[in-house]
Amino acid sequence: MHAEMIKITEQFVKSILVDDRTGHDYFHIHRVRNMALRIGKIEKANLLIVEMAALLHDTIDDKIMDDPKAAIKHVTSFMHSNGVRSVDSEHIMDIITSLSFKGGNGVPMKSLEGQVVQDADRLDALGAIGIARAFTYGGLKGHILYDPDIPIRESMTYEQYRFEQGTTINHFYEKLLRLSDKMNTEEGKKIAHQRHGFIEKYLKQFFEEWNGQL
Ligand code: ADP
Ligand code: NI
Repeated sequence: MHAEMIKITEQFVKSILVDDRTGHDYFHIHRVRNMALRIGKIEKANLLIVEMAALLHDTIDDKIMDDPKAAIKHVTSFMHSNGVRSVDSEHIMDIITSLSFKGGNGVPMKSLEGQVVQDADRLDALGAIGIARAFTYGGLKGHILYDPDIPIRESMTYEQYRFEQGTTINHFYEKLLRLSDKMNTEEGKKIAHQRHGFIEKYLKQFFEEWNGQL
């Protein structure tokens, strides 16, 4: 029963994100789901909620969907027609709307399941994959790699984060290196620590090459 529900949800999500080039393609979802299940098992979370929320977490996002309100309705009715209990679909919707709310850079997650999915989503912005995603996103938006004359922004409004031109290397300092302090779960913190260290190593070599020292 649950396996069938998950399979149908995978198809639903694939059909929505098939053309995404902003770093939220289906393989992002796939990685977040697997990571969320890995952390969720250790944290003893409700794995059905974790898996469904991870699969659906980008289907209502305002940067992917033209009309997030319509997307919320669409996803809610999808869950109902797919046999998800109301209490569960409300919980899942609560998680994915909180995740998508980027204004305050993420409202605190109320439930353990939400914390687990948020950690998994943040982890995909770290490590080797996080670096690859950042340069993909920067290239798509026409940002340059790096310019020492463009300062790192200490804090940003939502509009600045989305629309102001920065450099991709600055994004590492403006967002990625701040993520590991925001992790919710112990397991998430451990994995973030390792991936954070990898980004630091990468940046060290980047600047040594930039300065002609290597
Ligand atoms: P989320 O993964 O929480 O939905 P975003 O949509 O902001 O967050 O980011 C998606 C991916 O694109 C992440 O890997 C993130 O690091 C990257 N990204 C977002 N904004 C920028 C930017 N200005 N420069 C480089 N990469 C970015
Ligand atoms: Ni995501």
